[in-house]
Amino acid sequence: MTKPRLATRLLAERPGWFASADVIVVGSGIAGLTTALHARRAGRSVLLVTKAQVTEGSTRWAQGGIAAALADDDSPEQHLADTLEAGAGLCDADAVRVLVTDGPGALRDLISLGAHFDTDASGAISLGREGGHHRDRIAHAGGDATGAEISRALVAAVARDPGIELVENALVLELLTDVTGATQGVTLHVMGTGQRGGVGAALAPQVVLATGGLGQVFGQTTNPYVATGDGVALALRAGAEVADLEFVQFHPTVMWLGPHAQGQQPLVSEAVRGEGAFLIDADGQRFMVGQHPMADLAPRDVVAKAIMRRMRETGAGHVWLDGRDLGADTWVRRFPTILESCRSRGIDPVTDLIPVAPAQHYASGGVRTDTWGRASIPGLYACGEVACTGVHGANRLASNSLLEGLVFAARIGQALQVDEVVRRDPVETSARVGLLPHASRRALQRTMDEHAGVLRSQSSLQAAADELRQIEATEGAHPCTEDWETTNIHAIATVLVHHALLREETRGSHWREDFPDRDDEHWRVRLVSSLGERGKVKTRIEPLGGTT
Ligand code: SIN
Repeated sequence: MTKPRLATRLLAERPGWFASADVIVVGSGIAGLTTALHARRAGRSVLLVTKAQVTEGSTRWAQGGIAAALADDDSPEQHLADTLEAGAGLCDADAVRVLVTDGPGALRDLISLGAHFDTDASGAISLGREGGHHRDRIAHAGGDATGAEISRALVAAVARDPGIELVENALVLELLTDVTGATQGVTLHVMGTGQRGGVGAALAPQVVLATGGLGQVFGQTTNPYVATGDGVALALRAGAEVADLEFVQFHPTVMWLGPHAQGQQPLVSEAVRGEGAFLIDADGQRFMVGQHPMADLAPRDVVAKAIMRRMRETGAGHVWLDGRDLGADTWVRRFPTILESCRSRGIDPVTDLIPVAPAQHYASGGVRTDTWGRASIPGLYACGEVACTGVHGANRLASNSLLEGLVFAARIGQALQVDEVVRRDPVETSARVGLLPHASRRALQRTMDEHAGVLRSQSSLQAAADELRQIEATEGAHPCTEDWETTNIHAIATVLVHHALLREETRGSHWREDFPDRDDEHWRVRLVSSLGERGKVKTRIEPLGGTT
């Protein structure tokens, strides 16, 4: 197999302005905002940079909620067992133990910062159920507007802290490092012509990537337009390790808007099935019954695969979600956002079936970190969806993502305090290469949809690799945000396809038509890649050791 090559430097002007802080946090979802607050608790000054407005990003779109073992009949051990089962044998058990043990405290901390969660008549937090969970453990807010409430509370907490300086409309470009290879900041492109417009450098010996997901690598995703995987691409170019990129989670129930729909698609939360809705095919058959003991509430990869199979068998572009038995009161109280989203498209879920199909939703892999959020470059950390802590394995358990952001942000706060830092001048970066023009983005997404989506094979993935190689960089005279993003999408797609080709088995969200079985003998391993000399992708196979 030919090893792909990637650009290791972007074409960018020299920095026209400089800023500095103790810690730079890149991204303003739950992971970035919470990390910024924990860095302040550690006594650090923080520069919080975000690509669009502080409220943009995936967090505010989250519907289901935050998983935490809070109920009397629940325990971190049970949450651990469910997470490991969903992760299909590839979770890092130590990281999962941290997640489920620290989870309830992290949720209480979020509440103390001002987030309001739905409660029952006794005043206790109401807990819902989602796929793969054997207990009710999903805390939610505003019914199905959990992310919006979390974002509101955290943005307000950050705004109250004068030690956090916010820079919006700032796309992070490259990591700055010193002669020892340690982190010394980032370069940024800030939209606008003010004092801090154009390309600048933000200096700090500790940088936390919290840039979220990479959904825009695909043509249909639940992720917003900002999810272009910038943190993973930056880390790759800087020589950091990334892992598990082949495990892209496709959410089973994304509202189907027609065969040509593109970009961000409306999610119909798993919590709707948690309240009793179920899937049916065009003949009205409940096809999840008999597929898995948990039927419609099986882990997400199982449900997505069953839907895809049924769509292939029937030739239909979607299946149906039947939530009519929930009744109008439950829809209004529990799912006001989804109700409005359906009704605005002419579907009334109280009386109508909802057309649904799988679409890209979450990257289980990302920048490889230890259980303190440390990446492989000194001074670089990653938190939330951009990171690969190992908690998700081959398939993330529903509602563990917001929890991961909370729990590991707190751990990073502690690491920032104890890790040794030395401020040095960053090394000048010289050789720069061209960027992919924005016009290539659609072709890239089509390649990934057609050849590297839910269902993959050697031939489809090889076609994807060949097409990606043909998409060439050009020397654009005026690079813009969209060109940089498109270059990032291409870098991630290239490594993702490389991993997917290597992994000759079906596991979790990685589904190979030509290797339909899970192969624990050869593939209970993690694929970890970085860029070597002249941008060559180097991949090592990491044994799981004490992981499960
Ligand atoms: C959902 O509400 O179904 C999504 C929750 C998640 O991705 O964890």
